[in-house]
Amino acid sequence: MVKINTPQSYLIAPSILSADFARLGEEVSSVLAAGADWIHFDVMDNHYVPNLTIGPLVCEAIRSYAVKDGQPACIDVHLMVEPVDRIVPDFAKAGANLISFHPEASSHIDRTIGLIKDNGCQVGLVFNPATPLHYLDHVLDKLDLILLMSVNPGFGGQSFIPGTLDKLRETRAKLNAYEEKTGRKIRLEVDGGVKADNIREIAAAGADTFVAGSAIFGKPDYKAIIQTMREELGKA
Ligand code: DX5
Ligand code: ZN
Repeated sequence: MVKINTPQSYLIAPSILSADFARLGEEVSSVLAAGADWIHFDVMDNHYVPNLTIGPLVCEAIRSYAVKDGQPACIDVHLMVEPVDRIVPDFAKAGANLISFHPEASSHIDRTIGLIKDNGCQVGLVFNPATPLHYLDHVLDKLDLILLMSVNPGFGGQSFIPGTLDKLRETRAKLNAYEEKTGRKIRLEVDGGVKADNIREIAAAGADTFVAGSAIFGKPDYKAIIQTMREELGKA
């Protein structure tokens, strides 16, 4: 199993939503070679969100390209689909390492979390900008990651919603208290509108894992932009 809670503090997860889909395998390899840590895989169903993207077949197709330093890199599947459960085993078989879902899209949140774990994957819960954090109350012990959306899900290239910074601070405080009590670390990921010029502020608010689509795949030199992001993170 690809362990997501590695000691490395900041992780960069490029969203392949903004990659060149005609050359997807190559895009995945080159962004990892350029210094990215994970591959963020956005699944949209034209039902839970108003857009349609990629599914398990594409996950399976890129699995062998998602390699970093000779080891499998984490494929971080972000499900924006409703219902959730039907598709979970397909993604696990297709090589997903981490599967995150939106609580509003599942009728039985605890059951979906169990299903993802039973299929051998790590699990994340995703919060839209207007989704309250109380969904964490009874499931924190079972989560590997919390993903805060900093845009409304459905499209790449949107602007970061500033209110996310307060929500990050609130979540970070909960996670620090939880880690102190249990010794267990849960990653805090942020997704939407993350760029080199705001990543430092986002890290200072408590995020440790950063999804960036257009900010990376929109640039000609992936290595240079990832390097710039890491320099900014170094100042946080
Ligand atoms: C939005 C997706 C994001 C998106 C991020 O619904 O979940 O992962 O691709 O794209 P940028 O970084 O361009 O906002
Ligand atoms: Zn996403």
